[in-house]
Amino acid sequence: MLARAGSQKGRAFPIVIVGHVDHGKSTLVGRLLHDTDSLPDGKLEQLKAVSAKRGLEFEWSFLLDALQVERDQGITVDTTQIWFTTEQRRYVIIDAPGHKEFLKNMVTGAAQADAAILVVDAAQGLAEQTKRHAYLLHLLGIRQVAVAINKIDLIGHDAARFSEVAEAVRGYLADIGIEVSALVPVSARAGDNIAVHSAATPWYQGPTLIGALDAFVPRAHAVDQPLRLPVQDLYRFDDRRIVVGRIESGRLAVGDRIRFAPLGREATVATLEAWRGDGGAHVPRAEAFAGESVAFTLDEEVFVERGALASTPDRRPIDANRITARLFWLDREVLKPGDRLTLKIGTAEREAEVEAITESLDVETLDVATATQVDRNGVARVILRTRRPVALDTYDAQARTGRGVLIRGPQIVGGLVIEAADRVAHDIVAVDSSVTAADRARLNGHRGGVLWLTGLSGAGKSTLAMATQRALFAQGKQITVLDGDNLRRGLNRDLGFSEADRAENIRRLAEVAKLMADTGMIVIVSAISPLQAHRDTARQIIGAGFHEVHVRADLASCESRDPKGLYKRARAGEIAAFTGISAPYEAPVAAQLTIDTTRLSVSDAGETLLDYATRYFAA
Ligand code: ADX
Repeated sequence: MLARAGSQKGRAFPIVIVGHVDHGKSTLVGRLLHDTDSLPDGKLEQLKAVSAKRGLEFEWSFLLDALQVERDQGITVDTTQIWFTTEQRRYVIIDAPGHKEFLKNMVTGAAQADAAILVVDAAQGLAEQTKRHAYLLHLLGIRQVAVAINKIDLIGHDAARFSEVAEAVRGYLADIGIEVSALVPVSARAGDNIAVHSAATPWYQGPTLIGALDAFVPRAHAVDQPLRLPVQDLYRFDDRRIVVGRIESGRLAVGDRIRFAPLGREATVATLEAWRGDGGAHVPRAEAFAGESVAFTLDEEVFVERGALASTPDRRPIDANRITARLFWLDREVLKPGDRLTLKIGTAEREAEVEAITESLDVETLDVATATQVDRNGVARVILRTRRPVALDTYDAQARTGRGVLIRGPQIVGGLVIEAADRVAHDIVAVDSSVTAADRARLNGHRGGVLWLTGLSGAGKSTLAMATQRALFAQGKQITVLDGDNLRRGLNRDLGFSEADRAENIRRLAEVAKLMADTGMIVIVSAISPLQAHRDTARQIIGAGFHEVHVRADLASCESRDPKGLYKRARAGEIAAFTGISAPYEAPVAAQLTIDTTRLSVSDAGETLLDYATRYFAA
C-alpha cells in the first residue's frame, strides 16, 4: 500500500477547459491561476506594468498569452501543461485553450482529462462550437462536466437570463448523455463565483467554480484495474531479453504469470525494474504500478513483439479484427468505406480498412443519419477491419486501451473510442493484390481510372466514347468502353428503367468499371445515369479514379437528333419513364468536365475528352 501511495504522489487531477473561442476561456484560466495563488511570484505585477506602459488595460488573457510565449520559446520547462492548486488538490489543465493542437490532443489521447469545464458566454448562449466541444467530451468519455456561464457581469448579473442559458446548456448536454455537475454563473474577468461567492449574484446558491471542481471524483485508480501493459520495445543485453513498456493499468510483480495478446504466449516475470529510458541506474523492484514505465525479463523465451499487450491470463483484452468505434474525423479529405488507414492502439499499429460507416451525427442538430462518408470534424460510428488481430478493450471497460487513433501517411487523421470488438473469420477481408496499381501504371505508362459520361439519350455519349477510345487506343493506352445499352443486353438484362432498376444498373456498371480500372485500364462508361444520387454511389464505389463528365445537350437538340427514334416513340406514349420526357434527368452538380455537344463539333468534343484523359491518367 505504501508503494501505491507513492506512485500516486504528485498526481494532479487532469481537466480540460472547452468552449467557443470567444467565450472567455483564456481569461478564465488566468483567473483560476490567480485566485488559487498558483502564479509565479511577481508575474501578475510584471504583466500589469507592461500593459500600463503600453497604455493597455490589463486583461487576464494576457497572462495566458505570456505563458504561451514562454512555452513557445522554451523558456519555461514543462509548461505544455498548466497547474493550479486548490485547498482540496492539485489540478492540471492539460491543454491551453486556443492551442491549435487542442482538438488533436483531445482526440488522440495525448491529453486525457478526468473532467471538463465548459465555458459558455451568458449573452451569446450555446454556440455551434460549444456544442461541438461538448459532443467531443461525450465522445471521449468525459462524463464529469461543470459549466461556467461566463461574462455574467455583462448581462447585469441577471438571474433570468442565466437560467435561460443554463437550462439550454443542461438540456443539450443531457441529450448527449452528459449530466452536468454544476452550472455556475461567473465573471472570469471580475472574479465572480470563481473562488468565492459573488455579492452580485445573491440569487445563486450553488458552488463556486472551484467548489464544483473540487467535487469531481477522480477516475477509478488505474492500479485497481486489470493489468494492461503495451509492449513498447525489446532489448537484448548479453543473453537477457528485456521487455519494455508502460503499465497503463493494474500492477506487475516478479513471479506474475502474464499473457501477451494477441498471440497468447504466456510466461512468468523473472526480474523487474523501473525504466526511465535515460541510461541511468535502474533499481530492481518487486512490484510496479500503473503509470510507471518498466523493464522486465521472463523466465522463458516466448515470442513477444512491439505492439503486444500484456495482461494477466485470466483478465485478458479482446483479440479483435473487427472493431466498432465512435470516431472523430480531423482530416480535410473525407473518410469513406473502403479507405485503408493505420489504426494505432497503444503501441500496436495495424493496417485497417473501413468496412462501413453505420451512422454519422450532425453536431448542430444532433440528428443521427446513415452516411456514406465522414467530413472533417465529423463524428461517426464506423466498423473497421484489420488483417491481423489487435489486442484492445472497449472504452467502457478500460479507457486507456479502449481508444486509438487513425493515421494516414505521416498524419493523425482521426481519433476513436472502441464500443465493441470481436474476431471474425478472415476470409471476408479483401485480399491484397500481388501487383500494385503503381506496378501496372509503370508497365502501361498511364494509370487506370473511369471517365463516367452522363447525359440525355442522344446527347452524344456513345459517339464521344467511341471516338476517344479509338484515339487513346492509337496511343497505346489500355482502354475500354462500358456502354449502358450494351451491358443491358447481358449483365443487366434483368433490369428495366424504374428508378430502382436504374440504381442497380449504375451500381453494377460502377463495380465492373472499378474492377477494370483496378487492372490498370482507362474505362469510359457511357450511361444516361440520370440521378445525382446514383452517380454519387458510382463515385463512392470507384473512389479517387472516378471522373464525372457531363455530355450536355438540351432536350430539344437531343429530340431533334433522335438517333434511335426513341423520343418519337416516347412522345407517342409507347415508352414509359423515358428520360427527359417522362422521367427526370438531373444535370451533375459538380462534374469534373462538361462537354457541350450543341456547341462543339464531334472532333472538338473528342479532343476535349482526349486532352482531359491524357492529363489525368498520366503515370
Ligand atoms: S440509365 O438511365 O440506367 O443510365 P442506360 O444508359 O443504361 O440508362 O440506358 C439507356 C438506353 O436505354 C437509352 O440510350 C435507350 O437506348 C434505352 N432506353 C430504353 N428505354 C428507356 C427509357 N425509358 N429511358 C431511357 N433510356 C431508355
